[in-house]
Amino acid sequence: MGERVYNFFPGPATLPFEVLEEARDGFMEYGNKGMSLLELSHRGKEYEGLQTETESLLKELLNAPPEYRVLFMGGGASTQFALIPMNFLTAGKEADYLVTGSFAKKAYEEAAVIGKANVAINTKDTNYNRIPKLNEIKLSSAPAYVHFTTNNTIYGTQWQEMPKFARVPLVADMSSDILSRPFEVSDFGMIYAGAQKNLGPAGVTVVILNPEMLDQANSNLPVIMQYKTFVNNDSLYNTPPSYAVYMVNLVLKWVKKNGGVAAMEKRNREKAAYIYEVIDNNAGFYKGHAQPESRSQMNVTFRLPSEELEAAFVAQAIKAGLVGLKGHRSVGGIRASIYNAMPVDGCKALAEFMKDFVKING
Ligand SMILES: Cc1ncc(COP(=O)(O)O)c(C=O)c1O
Repeated sequence: MGERVYNFFPGPATLPFEVLEEARDGFMEYGNKGMSLLELSHRGKEYEGLQTETESLLKELLNAPPEYRVLFMGGGASTQFALIPMNFLTAGKEADYLVTGSFAKKAYEEAAVIGKANVAINTKDTNYNRIPKLNEIKLSSAPAYVHFTTNNTIYGTQWQEMPKFARVPLVADMSSDILSRPFEVSDFGMIYAGAQKNLGPAGVTVVILNPEMLDQANSNLPVIMQYKTFVNNDSLYNTPPSYAVYMVNLVLKWVKKNGGVAAMEKRNREKAAYIYEVIDNNAGFYKGHAQPESRSQMNVTFRLPSEELEAAFVAQAIKAGLVGLKGHRSVGGIRASIYNAMPVDGCKALAEFMKDFVKING
């Protein structure tokens, strides 16, 4: 195997090396079964045990209330954009959306196809470079839910504190920051996350649901589109993405072994600080996209003085073993995605590279 690089891609993203090694073993043979996990039926006690353990581990790490359910679904976070309004935005109801980035906008647009969706705030006027204040948000009179994106992967902004609205269930897309910091699960009606950033590989989407949400849910939907079906069948109504769930299980064990979510947050803050510090100390050269009080600990976005310098930065970084740094086209420049599995040394190496780059080109 070649030397392992520091992978700053936004997702699929870097995974803990130990997890890859363990997954390699499970790939060849799982639990002395004489077969790979990929070949194992989802209808046997081994797989069911693995999935049940994965649900419990996630609830334990997030300190979730016992009645909450964890569902393992396919289709990516984007499918949730549609399923949420299909299930919860029922006739005569409204839902409010906090549009703080491209994925938040996509979620809103899917809801608008289904029913009456309102934009309660939109920060597009400054190219989504900030998280709004609560007093800027205009909720409708009795929304069925408020949907928001906890971390805006493309723009590099993150809700520093989760918003809270009296008597309105929160539905949150946590695809790019779940397990990166503690939060109160009981404040949410539903949380979802595509696994491919902080939880594991692409292919499984994790949903954490307060079963009370199902009381008002639409039953006039194809069964496969209903959260109720997943709850009532322990996510085994149809074939789950079993190998992806297995890898999520390994990632959760890795998080637990490394001190849990609070320890992840501490490490993530340290990691992000290395990079933001270089941006702030070289403000004439590096320009952060996110306003400082809205900065993400997961995706650091910044520009250089010219597109030529940005291209040179990306190319030279690759030679230095730092890959995946090209920013999304909607922001341009550079984006460093530094999820839980990015080692501290990766962020230090990037910070050093940035300092050297400004010395030569600044
Ligand atoms: C915050 C957020 N939501 C949703 C998505 C879309 O996820 P998927 O590709 O799993 O549909 C992404 C992907 O990058 C994301 O970052």
